[in-house]
Amino acid sequence: MPLRWSHTVVYVRDLEAMIDFYTNVLGFEVTDRGKVAPADGAPEIVFMSQVETDHHQIAFLGVRQDDAPPNSVNHMAFRTDSLSDVRSMLAALKADGRATHINPLTHGNAWSVYFTDPEGNGLEVFADTPWHVQQPQGKPWDTSLTDDELHAWTQAEFEKEPGFGPIDAFYAARAEKLRQA
Ligand SMILES: [Fe+2]
Repeated sequence: MPLRWSHTVVYVRDLEAMIDFYTNVLGFEVTDRGKVAPADGAPEIVFMSQVETDHHQIAFLGVRQDDAPPNSVNHMAFRTDSLSDVRSMLAALKADGRATHINPLTHGNAWSVYFTDPEGNGLEVFADTPWHVQQPQGKPWDTSLTDDELHAWTQAEFEKEPGFGPIDAFYAARAEKLRQA
């Protein structure tokens, strides 16, 4: 019985500002919103998704009142289809200006951009590389490299690391192990 990841619900301070950032910069669509209970004073929940398979990938409850930085979740990560999607996200974040701590990082198995949303929640947007490599790994990647240059650089950086190999072989081995479980 695999438990498949679906969504996260986050307490936020400024509901409308957060919805604006997640829809206009990150590309989410509000799929539903409403009070969590019919009673007066019940908080509103806002559901958002970018995929057909999940009604919501993230949802906000606008009831957060403390000023402390978020401290129980390090980051939420979203997979894109391609490196060019990651580059587009990076450009959108820079153009918008509200994200902070923008940090392009590669784990060898992914090209990521880490950043924090306007309330300090950690986010990661990434594309898979063609490889698996034993984790953890993390190196800054130069966003000015072309796709071909980045492929070559990434392979050179990680091919000596333990477990480096084609991602398809890693997935096949995982599938076999899960079949035997
Ligand atoms: Fe991550």
